Amino acid sequence: MIVDVHLRPEDLDAKLREDARRGLTSDPKYLSPTWLYDARGSELFDEITRLPEYYPTRTEFALLRQHAADFADAARPEMLVELGSGSSEKTHVLLDALEPYLHTYVPQDVSEPALRSAVTRLAAEYPNLTVHGVVGDFTDSLTHLPAGGKRAIAFLGGTIGNLVPSERAQFLAGTAAILHPGEGLVLDRDTLIAAYDDAAGVTAEFDRNVLRVLNDRLGADFDPARFVHRAVWDPENEWIEMRLEATEAMDVTIPGLDLQISFAEGEQIRTEISAKFRLVGISQELADAGFVVRHEWVDPDGRFVLLAASRE
Ligand code: SAH
Ligand code: TRP
Repeated sequence: MIVDVHLRPEDLDAKLREDARRGLTSDPKYLSPTWLYDARGSELFDEITRLPEYYPTRTEFALLRQHAADFADAARPEMLVELGSGSSEKTHVLLDALEPYLHTYVPQDVSEPALRSAVTRLAAEYPNLTVHGVVGDFTDSLTHLPAGGKRAIAFLGGTIGNLVPSERAQFLAGTAAILHPGEGLVLDRDTLIAAYDDAAGVTAEFDRNVLRVLNDRLGADFDPARFVHRAVWDPENEWIEMRLEATEAMDVTIPGLDLQISFAEGEQIRTEISAKFRLVGISQELADAGFVVRHEWVDPDGRFVLLAASRE
């Protein structure tokens, strides 16, 4: 078992500073969703995946169970790279199906604690597989990912929907650039709005966790209790926005950025988008990036799609 650190804590810190400065001094304010995932944020996301309201993970599990063998026999990858792998829980289904072909699994994530615990667990569960973890940012160049044998890249959990369209195009072009002809990509996304504001308040806690990250890492004095979580559907862009709304006017000091920002009552920070795709739209985006869609697996309710595409 190997863990490569392509994003050292100081690199992550520099990115956080740059992002927080740009986003919190913009109007409207926003933050990159990447900062939701420190050790606590990764745990909270796993908790979200088990909520009754959060159907995407369950639906995706079922689709993977049903179609992983077809994918395995069609793609026959020797190395599976998973971007934004988190706890790698769903990956078991893929790893089991790919077992006859696979020699290496490469989980990659920006959240080092989540990645390390997944790597340790998977190495024990799959003794015949080389588990080669990479701490990295999937929006950076992917050329540093390990090579060797025919590869498939998995990008699950609907994470593609957390990128804005320009980032998405760049991401798809970047993955196409590192793949050879015949190598492929497995993607998923739900096509409808889910409940992004669960009754138990776990999503709200997940959202507010980003303020704790800014407090811990930049010495900011955000009071998370003075922000409420909002999930808003944007019909024009067809995405859900997760936002934190200030319950009253306040000033916040961020010593790590040498910055003071103020909030009006009701002012919001956008912390994540979760775009929902239509099959034609995402297929076209894949084609624009140089992929050919080989399989589209849709769940019986037509709410979720798992796509496998490859380089021509
Ligand atoms: N694939 C898992 C987790 C999805 S949650 C699943 O299907 O359940 C999104 C994951 O992407 C988190 O683990 C988060 O830490 C990771 N992530 C977010 N931004 C990232 C970035 N820029 N680079 C790499 N990983 C990122
Ligand atoms: N990748 C997840 C998704 O898009 C992240 C997420 C979970 C999320 N809960 C959310 C994004 C609430 C926006 C709002 O589904």
